[in-house]
This record gives sequence, structure tokens and C-alpha cells, in this order.
Amino acid sequence: MKHVEPNGLRVLKHRTASRLFHWGLILGFMPAAITGFIIWLKPLNEAMMNLAMQIHIAGAAILTLSCALYAITSLDRIVAFVRLSFTWDDKDLGWMLVGGGYPQKMLLGKQIDVPPMDKMNSGQKIFGICLLFGGSFLIMSGWILYAFLPFAPKAFSYWMDFGHLYIGLFLGVFMFVHIFLGVYNWGEFKAMFGDGTQPLKEAEHHNPLWISNKIESVSPVKTRSS
Ligand code: HEM
Repeated sequence: MKHVEPNGLRVLKHRTASRLFHWGLILGFMPAAITGFIIWLKPLNEAMMNLAMQIHIAGAAILTLSCALYAITSLDRIVAFVRLSFTWDDKDLGWMLVGGGYPQKMLLGKQIDVPPMDKMNSGQKIFGICLLFGGSFLIMSGWILYAFLPFAPKAFSYWMDFGHLYIGLFLGVFMFVHIFLGVYNWGEFKAMFGDGTQPLKEAEHHNPLWISNKIESVSPVKTRSS
């Protein structure tokens, strides 16, 4: 009789291109977001404010390049990401109503049942949708402000600037929530910042619908005769 060793089974959650893109987001978006807050609040002297502006532009360039490279090399992943982000049903409503069980777990130390999720939970879907639209607008409006500000009509520049500021602030705050949850869910952190794989058991707990419908096994199934 063949016996499957449960400890040997891992699933590939984030392929190499996706993990590299995530590093692109970290190295591009985070410096741009932090310096964006500095440029808005102006707490530093002129020399430091100029430096903050230069870092802001460098972050924007890394972010833009990362998005372009990911779109060229992994369009299939972007399509899958968008499709899943916009796929909603009553399970998502149930998940949202209990906050994914996080408040109960963090504040009361209580595990409650939450509706089963696919590869992303409903909170991640909302983050994905906000990043997709908000991030695209930030990149577009940022380069318009950088290159065409002296030539663009005043009202147009005003609204670009307004949108860039408030969408940037919103996504900046959202990003800190994402980072907190990314570190809190340590298993997810290890998968994203490690080799992209996760123990099957752990993925089954967080993403049961993904496991039952579309997992990709990476380690050979170890077998033992008994
Ligand atoms: C040090 C900072 C960061 C940490 C620790 C972190 C952590 C993580 C982790 C653990 C995941 C996988 C979640 C899962 O599979 O359940 C993830 C996914 C993701 N991250 Fe980050 N992240 C960071 C910065 C960023 C930044 C700056 C962005 C872009 C603004 C970003 C955008 C995303 C997106 C779009 C996903 C996929 C959707 C999701 O799982 O929410 N991350 N991140």
C-alpha cells in the first residue's frame, strides 16, 4: 500500500516572476509612498526636501519599470489576478461581515469559522482592485505632473495633482495595513519572501477553494511502501 507523507507536500503559491515583481513593488512603491508623505507635510529643510523629491521620482521609476516588465513577462498572472479580484459571491460577503475572523483572533484570541476562500481572500481582492486602479492613476498622473506641468492647462494640472495626492495618501495607508497583515500571517510571509512555496496543510487552511480547484504541486510526492 502506498502512503503519502503529508509533511513533504508543498504548493507553489508565488512563482519567481511574481516574487520579483513584489520586490519591485517594495523597492518602488514604498520609497515613493514614504517620500510622498514627506513632500506633502514638508517637515524638512530645502536640501532634504529636494532629496525626498529625487527619491520619490526614483521610486516611481522603479515602480513603473517593474509594472511594465511584469506585464510583458507575466500577462497571464495579471489576467488571473484581475479575474479573481473581480470574482465576488456570497462567501465574500460572509467573509467581510466577520472581517475574515481577524478582529476576533487579534482582540479576543478566538478562532471563528470563516467562509472558504480561493487564492486571495476578500480583503486582498479589495486591496488588489484599489492597487490596480489607484496605482495606474498614480503612475500616469505622476509622470504627467513631472513632464508636462508647465504646458498642461491649469485646471487639468490641478485635478491631476489633487488625485495624485489623495489616491497616494489612501494607498499609502492601505499599504501599511497590508504590510502588517503580511507579517502577521507569518506563513504567507515566508512563502512570498522565500522560495514561493507553502506547506499544503497551511494553504488548505487559508485557501481551501484554491487547493481543491487549482493547485500546482512542486515537490515530488514522497511515497513509502508499508
Ligand atoms: C515589506 C513590505 C511588504 C510585505 C511584508 C508584504 C507582504 C506580502 C505577503 C506576505 C503577500 C502574500 C499574501 C498571501 O499570499 O496571502 C503579499 C502579497 C501582495 N503584496 Fe505585499 N508586502 C509588502 C509590500 C507591498 C507593497 C509596497 C505593495 C504594493 C503597493 C504590495 C502589494 C502586494 C500585492 C498586490 C499582493 C498580492 C495580493 C495580496 O496577497 O494582497 N506589497 N505581500
